[in-house]
Amino acid sequence: MEPKKFWDKMAARYDQQALGKYRTAYEETIKISKKYLKPTDRLLDFACGTGIATIELAGSVQQVMAIDLSDEMVRIAEEKALGRGIDNIAFKTATLEDDGLLKNSFDVITAFNILHGLQDPGTALARIGTLLKTGGLFLSVTDCLGEKITATSLLYRCLAKMDFIPAVNFVKKAELIKMITAHGFVVMEQKNLYPSPPNYYIAARKNGV
Ligand SMILES: C[S@@+](CC[C@H](N)C(=O)[O-])C[C@H]1O[C@@H](n2cnc3c(N)ncnc32)[C@H](O)[C@@H]1O
Repeated sequence: MEPKKFWDKMAARYDQQALGKYRTAYEETIKISKKYLKPTDRLLDFACGTGIATIELAGSVQQVMAIDLSDEMVRIAEEKALGRGIDNIAFKTATLEDDGLLKNSFDVITAFNILHGLQDPGTALARIGTLLKTGGLFLSVTDCLGEKITATSLLYRCLAKMDFIPAVNFVKKAELIKMITAHGFVVMEQKNLYPSPPNYYIAARKNGV
């Protein structure tokens, strides 16, 4: 299924579903990420969804650009930020290819729960490397569905085959780390946030300092 169509449909129940299952993983994502953020940082949140993490991290940086391809996800995230009186997040319905995103312009790029949902994570990592300043941070969380066969991974395989959900990557953590380092990053921290399928937090720095 085309990702935009799927995520627009999912948006209204996303928080209930995601937080119902992954609340602790989100709390941990926010806690680990905050360690790396500085008040002067310009952060790009790639695939911000309904802004669960975006909104919690905004207070730790100067400015956030939050992008997502789903208008509905962006609408919900924007509404939540407005309700919380947060005014340093610029939301945009966009992908990483958006022309408005400038090379070497971000101190931090976050990509939470997205790389396993991309057709070509390598292209995304290359673009993230371009948009980050040298020495900038890439903070990610990724379901490593290739680690072992589980009921969830089998279900995803079937649903994707039947075109009920967008294509999913069945990546293993070692492959993911190899891919990240092959794109010029040095991995600084890795932690599993969920028992099964594993949901890996990976913090990496853009090489060159
Ligand atoms: C599993 S949700 C994760 C949302 C959020 N980062 C979180 O952790 O709660 C995946 C999000 O990625 C967005 N998305 C999928 N493909 C995308 C792409 N190519 N560019 C931007 N956003 C994308 C979807 O619309 C959806 O909001």
